[in-house]
Amino acid sequence: MSDQSFSTRIIRAGFQKPDPHGAIALPVYRNVAFEFPDSEAIAAAFRGETGEHTYSRVSNPGVTHFEQKVKAASGAESVIALGSGMAAITNTFFAIATAGSNIVASPHLFGNTFSFFKNTLTAFGVEVRWVDTSDLQQIAEAVDENTCAFFAELVTNPHLEIADLPAISKILKTRNVPMIVDTTLVPWCAFDAKRAGVDVEVVSTTKYISSGATGTGGVIVDHGTFDWLRNPKLAAMPAPQGVSRFTAKLRGEIVRNLGTVMTPDTAAMQILGLETLQVRFERMSATAEALARHFADRVPVNYPSMGAYQALSNAMFLGAPGAMFTIDLASKADCFRFMDALTVFRRATNLFDNKSLVIHPESTIYSTFTPEMKHTAGIGETLVRFSAGLEDVDDLKNDIENALKAI
Ligand SMILES: Cc1ncc(COP(=O)(O)O)c(C=O)c1O
Repeated sequence: MSDQSFSTRIIRAGFQKPDPHGAIALPVYRNVAFEFPDSEAIAAAFRGETGEHTYSRVSNPGVTHFEQKVKAASGAESVIALGSGMAAITNTFFAIATAGSNIVASPHLFGNTFSFFKNTLTAFGVEVRWVDTSDLQQIAEAVDENTCAFFAELVTNPHLEIADLPAISKILKTRNVPMIVDTTLVPWCAFDAKRAGVDVEVVSTTKYISSGATGTGGVIVDHGTFDWLRNPKLAAMPAPQGVSRFTAKLRGEIVRNLGTVMTPDTAAMQILGLETLQVRFERMSATAEALARHFADRVPVNYPSMGAYQALSNAMFLGAPGAMFTIDLASKADCFRFMDALTVFRRATNLFDNKSLVIHPESTIYSTFTPEMKHTAGIGETLVRFSAGLEDVDDLKNDIENALKAI
């Protein structure tokens, strides 16, 4: 990684080719097809020899530019941009999981990720082995020669638990298992995934990066640290130049076959979002931490740098660890009464919008889960989840203050 600071690296990351007019932001290439001077040139492009774009479901100049900026932000070897965070997760596992293989994962996951593992992947003969990520022995025992990956969320949504990734990485390295982590909740300006032992990050760029919920997006960030030769799906591939077998499989087959690519318009918005990521993240996180600390003596509050995960949070993250915090109230009815009395926080499902958001996860995101699935996923009915936005912290404080009077 260059020794320039985080935002400078992102803003300075250049175009693939100079713009003929000297435009300072890459124009949006809202086209599907690319024309070639002769048949040999298009054939060479299809063989992947020239790096030229051929078709926007495969690649597009704006999407590639966004990927280059994410590379500059994360220090990764390669980045692939997709249409949503779920696309990043599903494409990753379609590249590495086979019938008979297993995934060792924490069950404390965002609802659709849990459902993808439990419902979608198991229907293809992939086994999911739930583990408590605070129990290293359990992880060591769950992993075997058929484990295609360990998976966890960096900070779990909505529980706000933190796994000791450097310690887990040591176990996985001795067993030759890749560590794949959903790092959506704390971006690269505050967390160095590679240093923590993460081989592949999956990120919902819908959240901090889209700059105010302008569109859904996702990235697969490959640090190039894992040797995929042991994976039966990847071992048979020819060794590609400069990218891992995993990224080559994704780019050459999975992403184009599933049609999950990011659109050029989304890439243009997400480039702008990346350029302001650090200032927005730091401001939103400082607001979340201030609110969590302010209300901690009134209601049970959960925030990563407070309580049980304080030491891990301080060791792993730079500054305040994100804009999400939760509170526990006495009952579901109290949660609804409290939420209905809020006037600045918006009742909506998303995280890290510029607008502050509030939701009751059990009755919304997890509403289709059976009681047993809710139990496994650690979802209770007394939890209210907040995402702090860019409004003034005192207005948000007053909003919560007033709504607490309603219960
Ligand atoms: C931690 C986490 N991962 C993945 C996703 C899925 O992202 P998307 O909505 O962009 O598909 C979400 C969505 O809320 C999330 O919170």
